[in-house]
Amino acid sequence: MRLAACADVDPPLVGKANYGPFMDAKTEELRAAHDVLAEFYADRLADALDHMPAERAVLGLFCDLTLAADLGTSVGDVGCGTGRLEPYLAATGLSPRGIDLSPEMIRVARRDHPDFDFDVADLRELPFEDASLAGVVCWYSLMYLAPSDRSAAFSELSRVVKPGGYLVTAFKAGDSQVRRGGRSVNLGVEFDVYWLSPDEMERRMIDAGFATVFWGGRPAEGQEGSAQGYLLAQRS
Ligand SMILES: C[S@@+](CC[C@H](N)C(=O)[O-])C[C@H]1O[C@@H](n2cnc3c(N)ncnc32)[C@H](O)[C@@H]1O
Repeated sequence: MRLAACADVDPPLVGKANYGPFMDAKTEELRAAHDVLAEFYADRLADALDHMPAERAVLGLFCDLTLAADLGTSVGDVGCGTGRLEPYLAATGLSPRGIDLSPEMIRVARRDHPDFDFDVADLRELPFEDASLAGVVCWYSLMYLAPSDRSAAFSELSRVVKPGGYLVTAFKAGDSQVRRGGRSVNLGVEFDVYWLSPDEMERRMIDAGFATVFWGGRPAEGQEGSAQGYLLAQRS
């Protein structure tokens, strides 16, 4: 396993302008940690979806509904990490574009999935036009948001999805309390992560203009420390 370092980041990907007004100390900690985690993720998670039927089922429902809505095929993979979902989304007929806070995640995503577009961006200021996407995927990427950022983040997701389009999210489900993530992989990184309340997530989606289509969850499996939650909603 090769480990990445911030110093390896290609210069053109680095730039405060990409982050808008959000680069505070917590965000910088999160970005730096995920720069270090990028090769670990690429190594460990590349084929994880093959072994996770519940995750494929939820993503598959999102893909089916999004294509049936006939709003085009453009979808955002928001907090895309190393881009492992792109081949799955594309195989169904969707055209995903990934964005991520971490330049190193984006470098690895471009390397491992050269047929797709990836950009460094913060999900609180998405690089998509208003109502330009048939859907957005937020796969384990909303659980780092502090409570004070969540309304604005859901509003931003709502802004970019066409009426009738879909949002799907997976997250660590729990008591809403903040925890320190990253420690278990022993790479010297840590950051804030929230085990999110499914009720709160659903309420925030509804407040942002979405209507619930599916919600669900499953208990922790293997090394997972928490149950997992899933929500799929349609833009009103
Ligand atoms: C657990 S990883 C999941 C990656 C990918 N969705 C997957 O399932 O493999 C979470 C990702 O969210 C990204 N992320 C966290 N906060 C973000 C933000 N505010 N804007 C954009 N990306 C963010 C992290 O950099 C990280 O790559």
